[in-house]
This record gives sequence, structure tokens and C-alpha cells, in this order.
Amino acid sequence: MIKVITCKDYEEVSDKAAEIMLEVVKSNPQCTLGLATGSSPIGLYKRMIKDHQENGTSYSEVKTYNLDEYVGLPITHPESYYSFMHRNLFDHIDVKEENVHIPSSQGDDLQANCDAYNAALAQAQIDIQVLGIGSDGHIGFNEPGTPFDSVTHITYLKESTIKDNARFFDDDINKVPTQAITMGISNVMAAKKVILLATGTNKAKAVAEAIQGEQNVENAATALQDHPDVYFILDEAAASLLKPQGVEIVNTEKFDSVIANGSVIVDFYADWCGPCKMIAPMLDELAKAYENVRFVKVNVDHDPDVAARFEVTSIPNLCCFKDGQLVNRAVGYQTKDGLIRLIESTM
Ligand code: F6R
Repeated sequence: MIKVITCKDYEEVSDKAAEIMLEVVKSNPQCTLGLATGSSPIGLYKRMIKDHQENGTSYSEVKTYNLDEYVGLPITHPESYYSFMHRNLFDHIDVKEENVHIPSSQGDDLQANCDAYNAALAQAQIDIQVLGIGSDGHIGFNEPGTPFDSVTHITYLKESTIKDNARFFDDDINKVPTQAITMGISNVMAAKKVILLATGTNKAKAVAEAIQGEQNVENAATALQDHPDVYFILDEAAASLLKPQGVEIVNTEKFDSVIANGSVIVDFYADWCGPCKMIAPMLDELAKAYENVRFVKVNVDHDPDVAARFEVTSIPNLCCFKDGQLVNRAVGYQTKDGLIRLIESTM
């Protein structure tokens, strides 16, 4: 299931992305990063640079693989992804140039370049893949229609992508390259962990389809529904077309015996947090059902100790406390349409 983190704005999206990224880098100084270009990860890269400068986090043993590169621009062009990555990240951290990999679109045999990149990826294991998303749902430059089993290939950019990217080329669509080399969807899916960053209403439709739509090749990001560890980090605008989530409390009897009067605190833990949206209506329901009970929302993403203490999983957990002791806990699950169903109490 795609885990959603909804943030206030671009800065908070960048903070959250940096938190996840730096945890990977700090816990494994020899890790391999999958990196993206575009506007979405710039704030993340700024935070990585700041952390490197202030805390000394080293990238000297880190390897990086970029998603894509335009065809038709020399690497020295300021808008080549080679230039972008050096300007926005590599020139400011201690990554070794020999550990940096960006698909090459130079030379006459682009298919050979794709094959070489695939061979390199086959030897690597990307620990964390950073993604943006196109307004047409592309990840990398896997445009609508790209098969989910695709590997690094040459692609034509869709008109919408060319228009979206014209802002980097003096707003002139004629200056935007029409072709690119991109990692395929199966290369992306091979990463251990994926974080997709999206902000702005322009992304809202593609994001909603990717998370709540049927999987289909017309929106490459729907492939991520099958990834075991993927976070979408969204600002409110990008999350705005996600369908409202409902709550159905299926079995509360066991809680009734515990929640007798005002001395109980119920904490709601969830380690997928898009549910800010989902948790709020749930707490409303509970507040209606149980007067005099204080309901406290705790997000385990920000409280890993609590998560570890109660072995919280990606399933919603309702924990009831009395006099500081955990006295009851319910587990639930999220249905396909986003409804949270609370089921048996486990104590
Ligand atoms: C960039 C890439 C693209 C972008 C996407 C969103 O390497 O592969 O998929 O992530 O086009 O771009 P921004 O972030 O500029 O909105």
C-alpha cells in the first residue's frame, strides 16, 4: 500500500523527505541512492547539503544513480540533468564523481548507452529512490503507455511534459528536448524504498489516480501500488483530490467495558500518515460514541519509540490507557476504498 504523508507546504515536504533520506544515509554510509531532477527534490537536496556542511554526513562511499537525462543537450548545457545534479547537489557534498551515475545521452548509439545503464543497475541495489511525478503520472520519463516491466530506454516526451518543463527553457516549448533516456518502471520498482515528492494542484489528479486509481500503464505511478515500501510526500494541494476517507467502527463492545468513564485516554497510532485525513473523522466518531474520553492522535512516524513499544504495524491501532497503563487495544484494517474498519480488540 502506498503510504501518504500530507504536509503543509513545499518546505515541510522537503523536511520530511530529508528526514527519511538522511536516516538511510546515516545508517548506511555505503548506501546507493536513486535520484531525480526537477523542482520537487531541490528542497530535499538543499537539506542534504546543509546537513553535510553542519553535521558532516559523508557521501564519500555513497553511490548514486539518476533516473534520466535529456537527449539532444550537451552535458554542459545548464538544463542537462548532469548539470542540474552537479549544481543542486553533487558539487556541494563529498560524493566521488566515479560513484555518480547518470544515463548518458551522448554519442551515436543511445541503445548501447541504455544497455550499459541497465547492466550497471543490475549490479546495484538502490536503497532509496527519490521520485517526482509528472502531471500525466510519469515517474522518471516513463510516459503514459510505458509497460510496467520496462527497463532503461529511449523515450519521447509527451506534449504535457514538454509544456510543464518549458519553465526551465525560457518558457519556450521549442527549446525543450523531445526525447530522453530514462530508467524503466521495473528499475524503479527494484529500489528497496521509494519516496515520491509532489506539490501543487497541477499534480493532484495524477497523485489521486496513482494512489486510489486502478493500476494502469496510462499512469506510470500506479505501478508503485505494488511496491512494499513507498511513501508519497505531498503538500495539501497535491493531496487535494484524494477521495475523502470514511470510518466504520465495526466492533466496539470490548471497548465499552474499558471506556466506562472519563479516566481513559485513547491514542490512535498509525504509521501511514496521510491519514491525518482519515484519523480526524475517526476521532470524531469516537468522541460522539464516548463522552468524557479524551482522544489523542499520535503519529508513530514522529514517535518511533511509541511504535516500537506497542509493535505498531501499518494497521491502524487504537490503544486505550487507564492510569498510564495500556488496557486495551484494537486493530483494524483499511479497505480498498480507504475506509478504516476497526475490528477485534486484542487484549
Ligand atoms: C526528473 C524526472 C521527472 C520529474 C517530474 C516532475 O528526473 O524524472 O519524472 O520528477 O517531471 O518534475 P517537477 O519536480 O519539476 O515537477
